[in-house]
Amino acid sequence: MYDFKITASDAQTMYADLASALQGLTAGEPDAIANMANAAALIWETLPDLNWAGFYRNVSGELVLGPFQGRAACIRIPFGKGVCGTAAATLQAQRVDDVQAFPGHIACDVASASELVVPIVRDGRLLAVLDLDSPTPGRFSAEDEAGCLKLAEVLSRAI
Ligand code: SME
Repeated sequence: MYDFKITASDAQTMYADLASALQGLTAGEPDAIANMANAAALIWETLPDLNWAGFYRNVSGELVLGPFQGRAACIRIPFGKGVCGTAAATLQAQRVDDVQAFPGHIACDVASASELVVPIVRDGRLLAVLDLDSPTPGRFSAEDEAGCLKLAEVLSRAI
């Protein structure tokens, strides 16, 4: 077992620590699924107030469920559908304070109130999206978005 205890007091330091832990955890390991599985576990253990953390992979132009922590979730999401599909289609992070107000939001877990989805892109190609859900409305700040984009950068070399 790896023991990464990340207990930074501010978000910026926490995401920097998380990014370097992720870098260390994935270094030298070419298996994308193994790296996504460890990344989901590390994010889940580190970030407070989440009810779901994980990945949807780009499989031939459709998002397919990847490694995650949380409740069993929808398996396939078309590009352009819901928060994940919008992030996949636009290659833009989606930070949603109130998922009920997001057109086409896919309610995999009714407990989810807010959501942050960041695309993971290598050489202009979408590999996957990282999806974080919280039971608290407005849980994700601009700092969370910037921090998760850093994680996505590390992951773009690891999956
Ligand atoms: N709510 C997401 C679907 C994935 S689950 O949250 C795990 C969406 O609208 O894309």
